[in-house]
Amino acid sequence: MKGIILAGGSGSRLYPITRAVSKQLLPVYDKPMIYHPLSTLMLAGIRDILLITTPDDLLSFQQLLGDGRELGLCISYAEQPSPDGLAQAFVIGAEHVGDDPVALVLGDNIFHGPGFSALLHNSVAAVETGHDGCVLFGYAVKDPQRYGVGEADADGRLISIEEKPSHPRSNRAITGLYLYDNSVVEIARGLTPSARGELEITDVNKAYLTQDRARLINLGRGFAWLDTGTHESLLEASQYVQVLENRQGVRIACVEEVALRMGFIDADACYALGARQGKSGYGEYVMAVAKAAWEG
Ligand code: G1P
Repeated sequence: MKGIILAGGSGSRLYPITRAVSKQLLPVYDKPMIYHPLSTLMLAGIRDILLITTPDDLLSFQQLLGDGRELGLCISYAEQPSPDGLAQAFVIGAEHVGDDPVALVLGDNIFHGPGFSALLHNSVAAVETGHDGCVLFGYAVKDPQRYGVGEADADGRLISIEEKPSHPRSNRAITGLYLYDNSVVEIARGLTPSARGELEITDVNKAYLTQDRARLINLGRGFAWLDTGTHESLLEASQYVQVLENRQGVRIACVEEVALRMGFIDADACYALGARQGKSGYGEYVMAVAKAAWEG
């Protein structure tokens, strides 16, 4: 399965912080926000990733992540000149997707919770084997009208989906991680822009719903899907990461550690990546993870 990270948008709800810096490069406690969606794709076993961002921000992402080789990945880049909708990612990324299924993750979405790796693994397999055409992940929120909102039947099949409804039929927000079979490219190409002039991801999901090929998996109450869209929620996301990391002595979304655990790089390579940032606690952590792997 191929991967796409969409890190576009103007981030205007975070002005003035995001006037000169991409939202998805802002710190969430100890690391750039983009490490979270990148880790999500890596945990799903995805190594061939297209990062789509604005023409202004592309260079900064390249400085941070390069071609991905150091993490055992292949990262390429494309521009989204104006924020014309999430589904445009599949039009821009058609060549990258090729004949494969694809996972799209939004660059500002933070997922953390028990069993996430296994859930990703099984969901990717369900799409790759043709069992599901699309897999969406739902999360109960208190303000569903801010999101795409979905409903599933007892078997987990999606039975309704609406974008930012004023009267939501459920409290289940559709999170910014989407797995699709290859027909998503044709579906996206055939969309007409919505009233706000965007190619809506919800319209893509409706197409799969109409074919009865969409699954909605519930991320339960022990799970964290964090918002970073406002000053308050961005700070809260940092605090969440800080509390867990300090309590447990592990780091969330440490891409070097994920690459090592997934077998994308070996312990020597991991150590070298840590040594390069050794003066920060983050670098020390990466080196310690590599040492622990050496000691087996
Ligand atoms: C987008 C999608 C929405 C989804 C949300 C998740 O909304 O349109 O369906 O629930 O991402 O982050 P936006 O954040 O672009 O308003």
